Amino acid sequence: MQLSSAALWCLTLLAGSVSPSPISLHADQKPLILKEGDSWHHYDDGPSNHSGILELLDQYAPIFKLSELESFFPSSVDYMFPHYNYTESRAGDIQPLNGSLLSRSQLYKIPPDTFLSIRESHNPQPFLEEESEYLFGPYDRDNDAEDGRGKVEEEVYGFGVDQGNGIIDLWYWTFYPFNFGKPVGPFGILGNHVADWEHLRMRTINGQPVSADYTTHTGGRFSAGTFRWEDIEKIDRRPVAYVAAGSHGVGKLFKLVDITDDEGPIWDTKDHVVPAVYWDGPESRRRIWHRGDSSWLNYRGNWGNKGQDDCWWHRVVGYCQVVDAPWGPNRYFGIPPDCILAPLVAGRSTYDFKFSSSVLDWAKEHNIALVKIEQVCTRPKNNDDDDDDDDDPDDVYVYNDEEEGEIEIWNVQGLTEFKGTERHTVNLAPCKGRQSAVRAYKLSLCLINGKCLSSSRERRICTYEQGKKGKKFGGAVNLLDVDDWRWNY
Ligand SMILES: *[C@@H]1O[C@H](CO)[C@@H](O)[C@H](O)[C@H]1NC(C)=O
Ligand SMILES: *[C@@H]1O[C@H](CO)[C@@H](O)[C@H](O)[C@H]1NC(C)=O
Ligand SMILES: *[C@@H]1O[C@H](CO)[C@@H](O)[C@H](O)[C@H]1NC(C)=O
Repeated sequence: MQLSSAALWCLTLLAGSVSPSPISLHADQKPLILKEGDSWHHYDDGPSNHSGILELLDQYAPIFKLSELESFFPSSVDYMFPHYNYTESRAGDIQPLNGSLLSRSQLYKIPPDTFLSIRESHNPQPFLEEESEYLFGPYDRDNDAEDGRGKVEEEVYGFGVDQGNGIIDLWYWTFYPFNFGKPVGPFGILGNHVADWEHLRMRTINGQPVSADYTTHTGGRFSAGTFRWEDIEKIDRRPVAYVAAGSHGVGKLFKLVDITDDEGPIWDTKDHVVPAVYWDGPESRRRIWHRGDSSWLNYRGNWGNKGQDDCWWHRVVGYCQVVDAPWGPNRYFGIPPDCILAPLVAGRSTYDFKFSSSVLDWAKEHNIALVKIEQVCTRPKNNDDDDDDDDDPDDVYVYNDEEEGEIEIWNVQGLTEFKGTERHTVNLAPCKGRQSAVRAYKLSLCLINGKCLSSSRERRICTYEQGKKGKKFGGAVNLLDVDDWRWNY
């Protein structure tokens, strides 16, 4: 169906309505638990360039700088295998563990929804019992490099994800035998767990690095961890990431943050990347079934003990001092980076985006004719400056964010013709008003009468000034989104 551009122009809504939808953090970074009958691809060389992907994983092996205060060091997965003693199901059924399954080539035989458990105590308050000291990891304090700094030489586990259009995402996963929680006053140290998986994600386009995602989680609801390659510290053209010592926010058990170097041990993963290809290609998106010594990547259970639920405050906050051990690294990687990087512009915003081919059938069936785009704007509330009240958009939603103070959120909307899998380009009015900033965008698929049948979640936007380092906020962007849009319509 063809629409005249004049009709489209009339349909374009320049300023928006209320959108009280908070941005959902990492909702789709949860491990993908496959349902019975889902097919895993059996490894054969698909359309992806597997050797190219493996080379990139090796080429960009990150350098982790550990904190001087760290006591719980990384290890290989093999280090931990001999310590697992029994399994526990989610329901609490305890089973003896067949020790010969504890190897890289056998682990996948252990059923999903299993907690691999250690017998030894694992609730340091604040110290570990002697029997559990192996949880500190294999780090050897006497193995200093020439410069006197500690040196770690453990493996990292890499997944290369071919996202199409020359994009290869590299996910580097690190393993720690133990995560030391966070002291919370009289409650003690909360959030301890056996085994810890953390990641650093990098994006390359045509073999060149463009960005990396650090899992900081320190800057409030709207912080995002995507940084341009030129803003990242590098050694030897490889990314550097800082690992904060064991005590992090209980809600988000990530360790990688970008804090200042404190002369702690260095973990250079060059030649220590254990690489894997994630799926057989960007179109089919069938995950690979790993074989032989890589087959442990197919294990879908948890890497340590179940958490406690017997503390009196469990009903209120949902966890005790020891929390559930995490899943392994083979999670869902078919997602765009934490945020889409876009330069600021003067005047109006431009959005350039594309749907995946998987939306086409659904869109045809449902007579989709239009795409609604919503640019999410935000600015701090209570800036003690009433001068610009006239600029206030109508219908502003006031949002109380714990860490950023009160902010306002509103939308600028537009409509454009649905063009299937061709690229769409839409012009939108800027986020108006002092200190206003573009924070995200989302799309909806709509009928010719403007009624929308399905909306995406928001993609966050990280803005910068062309030619300058660092991030900068502003009211209009020139956004070229290279990640196809897809969601469950
Ligand atoms: C596969 O990737 C390698 C390394 O990046 C590259 O040299 C080669 O040309 C690629 N092959 C194909 C068929 O794309
Ligand atoms: C333990 O696992 C191995 C490897 O799968 C298997 O051959 C053996 O029969 C198992 N032993 C028991 C007692 O189940
Ligand atoms: C678990 O511990 C018991 C008692 O020490 C031991 O007999 C058993 O072999 C252990 N099982 C495994 C799988 O290590």
